[in-house]
Amino acid sequence: MKNRVLSGIQPSGEFHLGNYLGAVKNWVDQQEEKINYFCIVDLHSLTVPQDPTTLHHQTRSLAAMLLACGINPDKSTLFIQSHVLAHVEACWLLNCVTPLGWLQRMTQFKDKSAKQETIQTGLLVYPVLQAADILLYDADEVPVGEDQKQHIELTRDIAQRFNHLYEQEFWVLPEAKIPAAGARVMGLDDPTNKMSKSYAHISGHAVRLLDDPKDILKAFKRAVTDSGREIAFSDDPEKAGVNNLLGIYCAVTGKSKDETLADFANARGYGDLKVGVGEAVIAAVSPIRERYTYLMQDVAELDRLLARGAEQARAQAQPKVEKMKEIMGLVLPRLGTEDKGHGACQLPQSLFPRPPPLCVTLFGFLWYWFWQDAAVPPTPPPPLPSLIWWRQWRCWPPSPHRPRQRKQPYPPPRSRPALPPPAW
Ligand code: AMP
Ligand code: TRP
Repeated sequence: MKNRVLSGIQPSGEFHLGNYLGAVKNWVDQQEEKINYFCIVDLHSLTVPQDPTTLHHQTRSLAAMLLACGINPDKSTLFIQSHVLAHVEACWLLNCVTPLGWLQRMTQFKDKSAKQETIQTGLLVYPVLQAADILLYDADEVPVGEDQKQHIELTRDIAQRFNHLYEQEFWVLPEAKIPAAGARVMGLDDPTNKMSKSYAHISGHAVRLLDDPKDILKAFKRAVTDSGREIAFSDDPEKAGVNNLLGIYCAVTGKSKDETLADFANARGYGDLKVGVGEAVIAAVSPIRERYTYLMQDVAELDRLLARGAEQARAQAQPKVEKMKEIMGLVLPRLGTEDKGHGACQLPQSLFPRPPPLCVTLFGFLWYWFWQDAAVPPTPPPPLPSLIWWRQWRCWPPSPHRPRQRKQPYPPPRSRPALPPPAW
């Protein structure tokens, strides 16, 4: 049986080489052998402040980018997270079985919250929404970059806890699939920090897939390295820059470590290495940029593909979330049963007596009016603003039992109690 795959990517920020090599390239390479769901996680983007217009544009732009990278809509289901409501429902239900401490421990939460003035609750429950994304599709594999490993482990923990609490083998436990090369592409300006969408706008930090070849080459030429000359893979933090460049070359060309080193055996120094890696990257991303430009010209077609993807995703996710609710003891609406006889209510009509005809109601009011005048002492006067109205009202219609009161002084004079003597 084919393995099921789900992965997600946020539409905020600009798509960079780390996203491509760490995640999307793997999605594309495995498409044929697996059942794939790829999700543009727009709800995750909202966990940090966003400009609505930019987010709106970037969501479609990311869809075009994923298709340009090689996601085939006939082999994979590509959809926008907020188009499938089951994700939000499942997130709430999973929130209710996830201990707070598990979320507070997440490295990404700690990093991102340190950069925010106010921390939105969404940032804390972000991994629960991610767990919902994954679990709803019974995913066996989640191809992601290394930074997401902790979130996938948390997803397994949440799934196991749910299975244990409700004594069911309901969720499939997913596994993170992290690529051998490109799992952690570092910033070119600072090889100790990962290339990140948040800093993609800073010149020299990231290689954006839509960048001009000239700019890409320039960014590589300016890449930070050490003061040595040795071109070798290494875990030494000093050599992180060279290691990063070699890793990028491996991932982008698909060559092994030995083949990569052989390609640079005759390099005269880091300068040759930088140019070699830059050119390999340009060769890989240029066709993607061309396909992207073509796809962005027909936004209606993009929307149609995304609508089709959402429909396919709903067909999997909706029944799953309904089952989840049932397990948790919620009452599901029984669609289809309430509509017998033109949607008429099936309960006995005697439970809902009809109101009496209008004339009977009117007669009842009149009768009550006269009767009240005769049997009940006059009601106390209403508050001041309506006094005038009340006086007229009380005089009409004329009561058969009581003389008209118009001449009566109102309010009746009251004798005031004497003031107490002053206390001093
Ligand atoms: P994000 O940009 O956070 O939406 O990430 C989308 C995907 O790209 C996730 O699977 C990440 O693990 C992956 N990713 C992001 N940045 C990098 C990076 N610098 N190196 C490798 N993978 C990355
Ligand atoms: N949290 C992931 C990131 O920042 C994005 C994501 C959301 C995701 N839902 C997912 C990744 C489900 C894999 C599977 O990159």
